[in-house]
Parts: sequence; structure tokens; C-alpha cells
Amino acid sequence: MALAFRRLVFRLLMVLVVFQGVCVIFYYTRNTHWPRDGVTDVLQQQRCAKLRHKFTILKPAKSIQLQNFTRELSDFMSCPYKLNTTEREINRMRLQFCCNATGSLYLTKRNTAINQTIPYETSTVKTYKMNAGIHRMLPEDFPWSGRRLGRCAVVGSGGILKNSSCGREIDSADYVIRFNLASINDSDVGLKTDLITINPSQIRSVFKNLGQNPDPLVERISVYGNASLIMPAFAYTFCTGQSLKTLRVLHPVRPQQPVVFFSPEYLRALDRFWKRRGLKEVRLSTGFMLISTAMELCDNVHVYGFWPFGTDLQDNPVPYHYYDELKPHRYMHSMPEEFVRLLQLHSQGALTLHLQPCSSDAR
Ligand SMILES: *[C@@H]1O[C@H](CO)[C@@H](O)[C@H](O)[C@H]1NC(C)=O
Ligand SMILES: *[C@@H]1O[C@H](CO)[C@@H](O)[C@H](O)[C@H]1NC(C)=O
Ligand SMILES: *[C@@H]1O[C@H](CO)[C@@H](O)[C@H](O)[C@H]1NC(C)=O
Ligand SMILES: *[C@@H]1O[C@H](CO)[C@@H](O)[C@H](O)[C@H]1NC(C)=O
Ligand SMILES: *[C@@H]1O[C@H](CO)[C@@H](O)[C@H](O)[C@H]1NC(C)=O
Ligand SMILES: *[C@@H]1O[C@H](CO)[C@@H](O)[C@H](O)[C@H]1NC(C)=O
Ligand SMILES: *[C@@H]1O[C@H](CO)[C@@H](O)[C@H](O)[C@H]1NC(C)=O
Repeated sequence: MALAFRRLVFRLLMVLVVFQGVCVIFYYTRNTHWPRDGVTDVLQQQRCAKLRHKFTILKPAKSIQLQNFTRELSDFMSCPYKLNTTEREINRMRLQFCCNATGSLYLTKRNTAINQTIPYETSTVKTYKMNAGIHRMLPEDFPWSGRRLGRCAVVGSGGILKNSSCGREIDSADYVIRFNLASINDSDVGLKTDLITINPSQIRSVFKNLGQNPDPLVERISVYGNASLIMPAFAYTFCTGQSLKTLRVLHPVRPQQPVVFFSPEYLRALDRFWKRRGLKEVRLSTGFMLISTAMELCDNVHVYGFWPFGTDLQDNPVPYHYYDELKPHRYMHSMPEEFVRLLQLHSQGALTLHLQPCSSDAR
């Protein structure tokens, strides 16, 4: 009896010791290896998911309180990027169905006939009749006809690109889109250029004597190699003269660098597309238009240099453009509203927005 009791006590003690041992081991590992990191990982994942959700449903710009916003955005931008191929393909299909950059981004010999009546994007009364002389200088077809462009970089002019070291990453893209003859730079913005916009008002103000002396413009555009130069010739009637002049001047001397004209029907369709989705601005910025284009044409879209605020994610002041001292003009585009839309697309996994300096080991 006493022996049996002693055995029982012994067993109980053993159980206690083993149990405690397990507890100690559990406690120990919990504070050192996987379970602890696991917990932080889970917390971090939850935080990222919460932020992702928040930015997906973020309301347009007026409600943004910048300091709070940049703090959370900075957090969110450190979260791993989550591509959502479903979301990406839905956007691609919608854009192709509505606007069809694939077949009508700009006027080509193939999609435009001699004597065809070209409407204006912003006028319902004015039209332009395509004559044989201009038609002869249109490109045959699109370089992408029948295939998808791979990884595309759309490079805005935002001051956050200053000191960003993003040049190498941008140059490694398959197709690079830039704006307004912005300067290029191997360290921060890259050199590769496949499509770049020219603003007709740039021609009017910077290259005044284009008819008599094309050299300054020729010199300026030569740095972009064989990139196509795209102009909104039929957006507003005042764009047409400068655009046609640019084509006439450059076509004979830089045949490898086609001057092309946005299809006004494409731009109009795109405008309606985004208005239906709540973007209530007078006119989309060219940047936003060509990001939309890229979402249709490219496998993956990487957006750089789109940041409409005066301070960066670390609260340092940033210039509006990376290449000049200009201040934003407020009347036309609604950059913060467009930015919120881009942020939504990023959170949904449809494109990748780059807001921070690029790491040196970028692919
Ligand atoms: C700022 O952030 C805090 C905490 O994240 C939140 O409680 C507060 O409502 C935010 N303020 C504004 C104006 O968004
Ligand atoms: C991807 O997007 C689709 C469509 O919006 C959504 O139904 C799905 O839940 C998303 N997938 C993930 C993993 O977030
Ligand atoms: C896009 O345009 C091309 C050329 O005009 C046409 O062949 C194609 O069917 C169009 N695609 C859609 C989805 O409308
Ligand atoms: C275009 O119109 C002009 C006169 O309006 C005509 O002479 C010419 O044959 C037309 N060209 C084509 C290709 O239809
Ligand atoms: C970029 O770096 C230079 C030199 O390090 C510094 O003087 C300048 O303020 C920086 N500019 C921005 C916008 O960060
Ligand atoms: C190119 O980058 C360097 C270093 O960031 C900068 O000092 C220079 O001003 C940039 N040049 C242009 C044309 O943007
Ligand atoms: C640009 O075009 C010219 C003429 O078509 C060609 O010889 C040259 O290799 C091209 N350069 C690049 C960088 O593609």
C-alpha cells in the first residue's frame, strides 16, 4: 500500500517534471526562434493587409491629411507587394474593350485612311481631314502589333525621383514611357526611352523658330535614340499646327524617330472610362493616360515619379519636377485625385507604384 502510494507520488512528480520541462522548452523557444518571429510575421501580415485594404478604398484627395497619410503610406510601401493577376487582367480587358490602345493609341497608316475625317478630343464641331501628305508620314503600324509588351516603366517627372537611384531599374524594363521631353539621367531616371510625349506648347515656347531652324529640337530629341515622339495633335484645335509642323520638320531628318499623334477617339474613350469610375477632373493628365495605356499593353506596369505632394514619405521637401523649378498649376489636372487612384490600383495588385529610392541590387 505504502509502496503503491510512493509509486503514484513518483509518477505524479515525473509527470510534473516532464510537463514543466515541456513548458520551459516551449517558453524558451517561444522567446527565441520560430514562434516569436511567427507571431511578429503574423502581426506584420495583418498590419499590411489592413493597410492594403485601407488604401484600396481610400477616398479622393480632399480628405487626405498629409502627415498621417505619408506615415501610413510609408508603412504600406514597406509591405511586400502583392500582385493580383485577376485584378490585372480585369483592368486590361476593360481598358481594351473601352479604349483599345492596342489598335488605336495613335494614328497609323493602318487605322487611318486618306481623306478620313479626324474628330477632336475636346470639340464636337471641329474636325480635321487627313490629307495624303500627312498620311504618308504616319507610321505603318504599332511596334507591339500582335504581342504584349513585357515589363513597362512609366516615368513621371515627380521630384521624388531626385537622388532615387532608380535609373538602373528603369532601364532594365522592356518598354519605357516618359513625358514632355524630360531630361534623362543614368543614375536617377534612366536613359532607355521607347515613347515620350511632346507638349505642343513646349514647341511653341521653347522651339520658336522650328520652321527656319530645326537644329535645337533635333538635338534635344536625339538623346532619346529611336524613341517614338507622341503629340496630342487632335486634342485641342490649338495643338494641331504645332504638331503637324513638328512632324514635317522631323520626318525627313530623323526617320528612325517617328512623330506620332494620339488618336483623339482613344483619348476621348479613356476620358469617359475614368469619368464613369469617378475621376471628376477637367482632363486626365497625360501621365495618367499613358499609365492606362500601359495597363492594357504591358504584362507588368511599374510607375515611377508620380507623387503630387510637396514632401516625401520621410517628410523631406521634394520639388514638383525632378528637372526644373516649376510649381504645379492647379487649374487643370487633379493630381492628388489621380494619385489616389494609382494607389488604389497598387493596393489591388494591378500595377506597382514606386515611391521610395530604389535599392542598388534592383533587378
Ligand atoms: C491619424 O491617424 C490616427 C491613428 O492612425 C487616427 O486615429 C486619426 O484619425 C488620423 N487622423 C486623420 C485626420 O486622419
Ligand atoms: C484578386 O482580385 C480579385 C478581383 O478583384 C479578388 O476577387 C481576389 O480576392 C483577389 N485575390 C487576392 C489574393 O487578393
Ligand atoms: C482594337 O483595334 C484593332 C484595330 O483597329 C481591331 O482589330 C481590334 O478588333 C480592336 N479590339 C477591340 C477589343 O475592340
Ligand atoms: C481624297 O479627296 C480628294 C478630293 O477631295 C480626291 O481627289 C482624292 O482622290 C481622295 N483620295 C482618296 C485616297 O480617297
Ligand atoms: C540630393 O542629394 C544631394 C547631394 O547628396 C543633396 O544636396 C540634395 O538636397 C538631394 N536632393 C533631394 C531632393 O533629396
Ligand atoms: C542627374 O543626376 C544627378 C545625381 O542625382 C544630378 O546631380 C543631376 O542634376 C541629374 N541631371 C539631370 C539632368 O537630371
Ligand atoms: C535606331 O534606328 C537605326 C535605323 O533604323 C538603327 O540602325 C539603330 O540600330 C537603332 N538604334 C537602336 C538603339 O535601336
